[in-house]
Amino acid sequence: MNIGILISGRGSNMAAIIDAVMGGELPDCEVVVVISDKSDAAGLAKARERGVETLVIERRGRTREEHDAEIVAALKERGVELVCLAGYMRLLSPSFVQAFPNKIINIHPSLLPAFPGLDAQKQAFDAGVEITGCTVHYVDELLDHGPVILQRQVRRLPGDTVETLSARILEQEHTLYIEALRILVSTYSDGAASA
Ligand code: GRF
Repeated sequence: MNIGILISGRGSNMAAIIDAVMGGELPDCEVVVVISDKSDAAGLAKARERGVETLVIERRGRTREEHDAEIVAALKERGVELVCLAGYMRLLSPSFVQAFPNKIINIHPSLLPAFPGLDAQKQAFDAGVEITGCTVHYVDELLDHGPVILQRQVRRLPGDTVETLSARILEQEHTLYIEALRILVSTYSDGAASA
């Protein structure tokens, strides 16, 4: 299974995926490319350090469709079969979603459908919920929408700040993403999922 990862920033989830693949936790998987829409994304260096090809494909005043078409072409040229969004800060166009049917997944730092969008951890914190968490889900053209694959709860502790809560959620994201990938990849290799 050839994986392509899209990032816009720090890339800690991206690094967790690459490390899991390189550590043999996701057999028969390879991360073939990391694409960022931001040239200054810190995750680019993390991908290069790990020997993964990186590309910067910026929007540069083009339409979303034109930008997405260039990304889709780069992914297809490299034989990407599964696209992982990891802190990629753009909505995908319908043509991008249709180019990889049920093969684009994302991670979000809340228990979707609660708290979609930016600052999900702060949204949960401000709402005063005792339990929040993270979600891996299929991607469609709507924001943080699409069928849920896996979720994990994270409890708000006494004395938590948004920062401490966010850090504990992020720690869980890194293992949740790998667990979701393991489930998906085993489903594909069982032949139970259609392409
Ligand atoms: C993560 O919290 C992820 O859930 C959200 O954006 C953040 C990206 O962090 N979609 P990183 O770039 O993976 O470190």
